Amino acid sequence: MTVTCWMHLLLFSLCCHYEIQPAACKPVWMTPQFPCDVTADNTSQVLFDCKGRHLQRVPDGITSNATELNLSENFIKNISVNSFSKLPNLTQLNLSWANKNREVMIAVNAFKNLTKLTELILTGNGLKEIPSNLPLSLEILELNTNHIMSVDNRSLAGLTKSDTARDTEPGRKLTGPPESLLV
Ligand SMILES: *[C@@H]1O[C@H](CO)[C@@H](O)[C@H](O)[C@H]1NC(C)=O
Ligand SMILES: *[C@@H]1O[C@H](CO)[C@@H](O)[C@H](O)[C@H]1NC(C)=O
Ligand SMILES: *[C@@H]1O[C@H](CO)[C@@H](O)[C@H](O)[C@H]1NC(C)=O
Ligand SMILES: *[C@@H]1O[C@H](CO)[C@@H](O)[C@H](O)[C@H]1NC(C)=O
Ligand SMILES: *[C@@H]1O[C@H](CO)[C@@H](O)[C@H](O)[C@H]1NC(C)=O
Ligand SMILES: *[C@@H]1O[C@H](CO)[C@@H](O)[C@H](O)[C@H]1NC(C)=O
Ligand SMILES: *[C@@H]1O[C@H](CO)[C@@H](O)[C@H](O)[C@H]1NC(C)=O
Ligand SMILES: *[C@@H]1O[C@H](CO)[C@@H](O)[C@H](O)[C@H]1NC(C)=O
Repeated sequence: MTVTCWMHLLLFSLCCHYEIQPAACKPVWMTPQFPCDVTADNTSQVLFDCKGRHLQRVPDGITSNATELNLSENFIKNISVNSFSKLPNLTQLNLSWANKNREVMIAVNAFKNLTKLTELILTGNGLKEIPSNLPLSLEILELNTNHIMSVDNRSLAGLTKSDTARDTEPGRKLTGPPESLLV
């Protein structure tokens, strides 16, 4: 028992401080097989870093206290309505290049119940339209490098807080109330 704990501690310090094996870097409450790094100093910040893990879907086992989730640079084709439904405390979600610049299918309502989400990064997902029913809490929406040809007024309706929705051209910001947006 003690030995296991020390092994965990040793692995934890090795990978966290010297970045030897990032995949093994997680608190003891995550299984060793779990493919992402997990950093949690306290309940108010529980970070799941799944960047570039060759994932083909959103992994099972992300705990419901997750606040930040990075799924960038993977091979995730589908985001379903259930992908994030058990993660009510998410504040930041990074899905850039989630399918290595191939198209990602995002289900209607996939983000709807994420009522604390302030930052959603959707760069490089081959999107043809802005996902519908984005949460009203959103402050930053990044949409660089997609194929969005038109902005349906419904997709941004109510996003009053979103003053930095960035469109398909890097660096260009969409500002103002949703009615005034044109792409
Ligand atoms: C939680 O941990 C984060 C990261 O270390 C830190 O920035 C934050 O201040 C901590 N919050 C509390 C309430 O301790
Ligand atoms: C997060 O949730 C898991 C599973 O419920 C729990 O074991 C862990 O202690 C929690 N971590 C924090 C930092 O709250
Ligand atoms: C979400 O965060 C709130 C406030 O920090 C906390 O009370 C609640 O237990 C968290 N929910 C989960 C599922 O971790
Ligand atoms: C992953 O994304 C999160 C949220 O957008 C960000 O805070 C974090 O720095 C990113 N991590 C890496 C390794 O890029
Ligand atoms: C999201 O992930 C991408 C690719 O890993 C990274 O370059 C970017 O900085 C991240 N965005 C944020 C806001 O952390
Ligand atoms: C992705 O979703 C589409 C439409 O719901 C479905 O036809 C396809 O089989 C799904 N692909 C994967 C890899 O789950
Ligand atoms: C969102 O929340 C509503 C009300 O709690 C619930 O009925 C619905 O199933 C949830 N949807 C998802 C995708 O979790
Ligand atoms: C979107 O535009 C249509 C037609 O111009 C209008 O009837 C509808 O009320 C608008 N919806 C919102 C949410 O602004």
